[in-house]
Amino acid sequence: MKLYISSIISLLLICIFSSCTDPQNKSGASRFTMREDSELTLLMRDMYDYYDSLKVNIENGDIPDNIKEFHNIHSAISTEPAKAKSDLYQAMATVYKESADRLKNNKNDISQSFNLMVDNCMNCHQQMCPGPMVKIKNLYLTDAKLER
Ligand code: HEC
Repeated sequence: MKLYISSIISLLLICIFSSCTDPQNKSGASRFTMREDSELTLLMRDMYDYYDSLKVNIENGDIPDNIKEFHNIHSAISTEPAKAKSDLYQAMATVYKESADRLKNNKNDISQSFNLMVDNCMNCHQQMCPGPMVKIKNLYLTDAKLER
């Protein structure tokens, strides 16, 4: 019973403190330190929540006139600041912004633009921060929903 409880606690800790580690990798014990959420972490949560609700709007055919843009993805400070300053991160951030622009300005094929934008979330995460990919995947509009 004790063992059971402590494994639940450590699983919780893994979820809370290792957003960038692969969920398969349970060896990141040194990451279990308290820290404030970084500016980039907060921005990412906002982006996720916004796109999650936009997804529901698109599924319901209720497309907002003005689709939000997130301007500070290039400059927000990440938990490991060097990471978000790297050329790779900056290049992926630009690609993401271009796809967010397309989503905003091209409402005719909005479902397709939306999924292409999600591809760019996934691409950067694949390279830099695989942990949240399981969650981000939920944003994709599925084919069945696209047919509506
Ligand atoms: C240019 C790279 C890049 C792009 C594009 C990107 N992310 Fe992230 N994301 C990161 C990094 C790096 C972190 C880790 C944050 C930190 O280190 O402070 C992160 C963290 C997250 C988190 C975890 C936040 C938490 O609670 O710990 C979520 C969720 C997330 N991103 C969702 C998204 C979504 C949704 C998109 C697309 C709309 C997206 N990301 C696009 C690099 C990116």
